[in-house]
Amino acid sequence: MKTLIKTLPKAELHLHIEGSLEPDLLFELARRNRIPLKYKSVEELKKAYKFNSLQDFSDIYYQGASVLLHENDFYDLTWAYLEKCAAQNVTHTEIMFDPQTHTERGVQFDAIVNGIYRATQDAEEKWGITSFLIMSFLRHLSEEEAFKTLEQSKMFQNKIKAVGLDSSEKGNPPSKFKNVFKAAVKMGYIPLAHAGEEGDADYIWEALDILKIERIDHGNNALQDPKLIEEIINRDIALTVCPLSNTSLKVVKKLKDHPLKKMMDLGLKVTINSDDPAYFGGQVNKNYEEIQKALNLTKEDIYQLVKNSFNYSLLKDTEKAERVAELAEVYYELEQ
Ligand code: ADE
Ligand code: ZN
Repeated sequence: MKTLIKTLPKAELHLHIEGSLEPDLLFELARRNRIPLKYKSVEELKKAYKFNSLQDFSDIYYQGASVLLHENDFYDLTWAYLEKCAAQNVTHTEIMFDPQTHTERGVQFDAIVNGIYRATQDAEEKWGITSFLIMSFLRHLSEEEAFKTLEQSKMFQNKIKAVGLDSSEKGNPPSKFKNVFKAAVKMGYIPLAHAGEEGDADYIWEALDILKIERIDHGNNALQDPKLIEEIINRDIALTVCPLSNTSLKVVKKLKDHPLKKMMDLGLKVTINSDDPAYFGGQVNKNYEEIQKALNLTKEDIYQLVKNSFNYSLLKDTEKAERVAELAEVYYELEQ
């Protein structure tokens, strides 16, 4: 199974680049940028990675991101993630970034986008890994602030494919961002959002009907509402599920209780992703391995999940078909 998971070419669709910042690089950047840290060592920092909720995690995550200042920092961060993609046969990535986490601290918008984008271009040249960028609005901030971010992105539209919505969900429903999503879609961005991670099924309805999202990040709480499940299936929208994130943030008690298989059996289209791999104990392949063991997933299940990762990516249909054909070739060769 481990070989199968490792060998199959796959796409990762739910990844926060700030959440891929490993402790070693975090310390290196802190030293380079002379930013004092609360933690004396990598070990001490890792001990703080115990969360009871999304809010708990967010506090540490924003502290970690505070070491990112210059274009080269964003380049190094993204390059480190893409090296891991190459090692795991991730051949396509859709990378989320939170500009407001950085612009609030005085970091230039162009340093963020250019640093991330340049690394993706270099990875495409070196390994053939393709990437899209998803600019996510922080939902604990106001819609007005999201509008400022949208405005700043105008010069960089050729580098950004989609908009997203992340951070603390409860109390910050999708409807709060109705106007900014409408404006973003008008500019040509594809609308995506986190919904139903901690928030109830109502939040997913709002994300679908008000923000008109084309993919749901997490979506676990869709299972509360049979009508919603039917609607998601009818609209042929995928859920980007993140198993190790869900156990780390106590969205799910144990991996054995994870609803992934139930989702698949109901006919929902799901994909496997790492969310914030530096904080939640594993990259995307580890997420596949752990959930496979916990739920006893078959090879066919794994193949289906990987196929979904391309079919529900933001790639063009012709490109999706090519990627799925390549995947099929590898899969059937392994099965010989
Ligand atoms: N930002 C980074 N990771 C997140 C998550 N799991 N949910 C919401 N916002 C996030
Ligand atoms: Zn996320």
